[in-house]
Amino acid sequence: MSKLITVFGATGQQGGSVIRTILQDASLSQDFKIRGITRDISKPAAQALAQQGVEIKAADMSSKESLAEALKGSHSVFLVTTPDWGNAGSDAELVHGKNVADAAKETGVQHLIFSSLLNVTEASGGKLTHVPHFDHKAKVEQYIRSIGVPATFVLPGYFMANYTVSGILRKGDDGVYNLAYPVGRDAQFPLVDIASDMGKYVATALKSRSDVLGSQILAAADYYSPSHILAEFEEVTGKKTQFVQVDSDTYKSFIPGPMGEEMLENHLFIENPGYYNGKSLKESNDLLKKHGYQPTSWREFLEKSKASL
Ligand SMILES: NC(=O)c1ccc[n+]([C@@H]2O[C@H](COP(=O)([O-])OP(=O)(O)OC[C@H]3O[C@@H](n4cnc5c(N)ncnc54)[C@H](OP(=O)(O)O)[C@@H]3O)[C@@H](O)[C@H]2O)c1
Repeated sequence: MSKLITVFGATGQQGGSVIRTILQDASLSQDFKIRGITRDISKPAAQALAQQGVEIKAADMSSKESLAEALKGSHSVFLVTTPDWGNAGSDAELVHGKNVADAAKETGVQHLIFSSLLNVTEASGGKLTHVPHFDHKAKVEQYIRSIGVPATFVLPGYFMANYTVSGILRKGDDGVYNLAYPVGRDAQFPLVDIASDMGKYVATALKSRSDVLGSQILAAADYYSPSHILAEFEEVTGKKTQFVQVDSDTYKSFIPGPMGEEMLENHLFIENPGYYNGKSLKESNDLLKKHGYQPTSWREFLEKSKASL
């Protein structure tokens, strides 16, 4: 009999990637039935999943009652939490993560796969204390470990789509694409094609549960510097680029409100001590390849996306 996996963020990038990968995988699609969670079952993204045979269930991570119902009967769970952007001081993401962890404990979930990140405050030795969307995820990870839910932590890298969809690479009036960062052109960004590859790392965790329980899997194809990112962008798209290193105040002025400080410190962290605190990606990508998956390179991502630029 197939097991049930409940996927949070089913209508979003990460959960959507997990569902697509399972559906496309010959063995996982036999091993698992999928339940996708959304706050609004009527939205088109939820309806599209229902048409592919995914059970769609309404739940809100802020409601413990809805979570108990959502997790009922689940063998495995994929959990992605999202920050309460624009609401400075909010601990909503931490509360959401703990709520799901508690529900997983209560319902006897066998494998919780959490989309985690590092604790910036700790890894920077207390120098960078304004990156709650990292710190909260690390605290959720710590909480999951402390209550003893069998779990694996998949830490997504910096999204490639940040450059093409979220507008970090900005086209100027002269047609040149500008990348302005508060870090140098040699800083190391671990890039991931999130919509395509998050599912591959999670599928790898599902396929090697007993080997990966308690460990962190780093979900990124490779480390890329801004110089490398722009050089390949030029080669693939034929468009001109320019890198500008700006000072902290100038960078913050691009992003109003508390998010400016948060994104500034997030990028300073990437430069020093590093997005994954200097850890190599080799072990995670070797595991991925062992299970038949290949991570998408920045060049491959650009080839796919260049038509929409
Ligand atoms: N940008 C980067 O480079 C980067 C790097 C690493 C990690 N991240 C992290 O990635 C996360 C975003 O992932 P994503 O891009 O997959 O998100 P996304 O596409 O924005 O989707 C968010 C999902 O979360 C669900 N959701 C939100 N609030 C919920 C709640 N209260 N209860 C239940 N479900 C809820 C939404 O479902 P419904 O709306 O259907 O309810 C939606 O499916 C963020 O935490 C971010 O910090 C980003």
